[in-house]
Amino acid sequence: MNVTSTSRVGEIAARHPLATRVFARHNIDFCCGGGVALTDACAKRDLDTAVVLQEIEREIASPGADTASPRWTEAPVEELVAHIVSRYHDSLREELPRLESMARKVFRVHGDKDPERLGALLESFLRLQAEVVAHLRQEEESLFPSLLRTAAGQAAELEPFVDDHVRVGQELHRIRELTDGFRVPDGACNTWNALWHGLAALETDLHEHIHLENNVLFPRIAVA
Ligand SMILES: [Fe+2]
Ligand SMILES: [Fe+2]
Repeated sequence: MNVTSTSRVGEIAARHPLATRVFARHNIDFCCGGGVALTDACAKRDLDTAVVLQEIEREIASPGADTASPRWTEAPVEELVAHIVSRYHDSLREELPRLESMARKVFRVHGDKDPERLGALLESFLRLQAEVVAHLRQEEESLFPSLLRTAAGQAAELEPFVDDHVRVGQELHRIRELTDGFRVPDGACNTWNALWHGLAALETDLHEHIHLENNVLFPRIAVA
């Protein structure tokens, strides 16, 4: 695929996984907002599309680019679904309770330093967690089995799942704002520090996860 200014961001990320380094660098949304042309995504962030295109070309031409990520656009759907569950769903089930206990602890111990922000952060995290846990269950119990069972392109009701992804993306955005872009405040204790880093990693993982579903798995079902 030749990358041009009119290529859709999500499609670039699907075809050239290393391009997501550039998107991450410039905070370009390639999962829920991946349906827009590169030039529009750049305009939204006040970036020069030609410069971003050059950066993408450099990344995808770098040594090892071909082997950097499995080609999920070509792997069997069964393998892609198994990868999503083992790499993303299982780790979320482990990570979310850990982050919850840290968010509660930071609010309990340090809430008096910035009650409004830390309280809003805890609430936002709990909303995200509830949304994600319910969503994972629905994917594993209903969507994925039906995708694997039925002939591709039939019956799969993808829209509610895409809508969930948008809500998750919005909550992540709110968490990014409330943590000041995950910048650890001066004098933060170890738990606070670990929480901020854990939330940043959660954002990266969820973006990759949603991207794989929205831009790689779902289109394959729709067109197969
Ligand atoms: Fe998922
Ligand atoms: Fe999902």
